[in-house]
Amino acid sequence: MKEIMFSIPYWKFALTDWEEKKKKIQVLLEQYPCIKHEGQNFLTNRRLPRGSATLFLKGCLDLFAEPLHEFTNEIKTNLEISKAFATAYDKGQEQILHNHGKSLFSAMIYVDLDPIDHSPTVYKQPFNQFDSANVCFLKLKTQEGDMIIVPSAIEHFSPVNSSSKRKTVIALDLIFAKNVGNEMKKHYD
Ligand SMILES: [Fe+2]
Repeated sequence: MKEIMFSIPYWKFALTDWEEKKKKIQVLLEQYPCIKHEGQNFLTNRRLPRGSATLFLKGCLDLFAEPLHEFTNEIKTNLEISKAFATAYDKGQEQILHNHGKSLFSAMIYVDLDPIDHSPTVYKQPFNQFDSANVCFLKLKTQEGDMIIVPSAIEHFSPVNSSSKRKTVIALDLIFAKNVGNEMKKHYD
């Protein structure tokens, strides 16, 4: 009789007041824009100087506090954001298979995601299919304004954007809270 040894959870939250929130995210991204770096076929603000990176992180914490608190409540673990960054994809741009393995969980917030012309993140099952031995990829049903949280070790990629509309995603890497003042507020007993 078959039983399950491991399962992989993910969490999905729809951001409230999305239209309003999107405008605030756009203002934040104008301040800390995504740019192209050599050797990368996407745009990112991941390499901001330390001071700016901290301000961008705090901006994200303000904007996304509600679902992050809900998440930490649910898993009953106090976490902090170790890194916050945006990635954007213009026509022909993509990001190859990678993971965020230095952290515990990674949250992706879909800022610009056209329901027809864009693909959400594609996740790779960390083991082959047991019947066919094939590699297995999965797309989660996602729409603009969603926050998806996955274990950081899960590999994923962003397929080529074949549309002239820009796709934008903000990523937050979450670790066990260790820096006093950076932790997400405790809402659990
Ligand atoms: Fe990623």
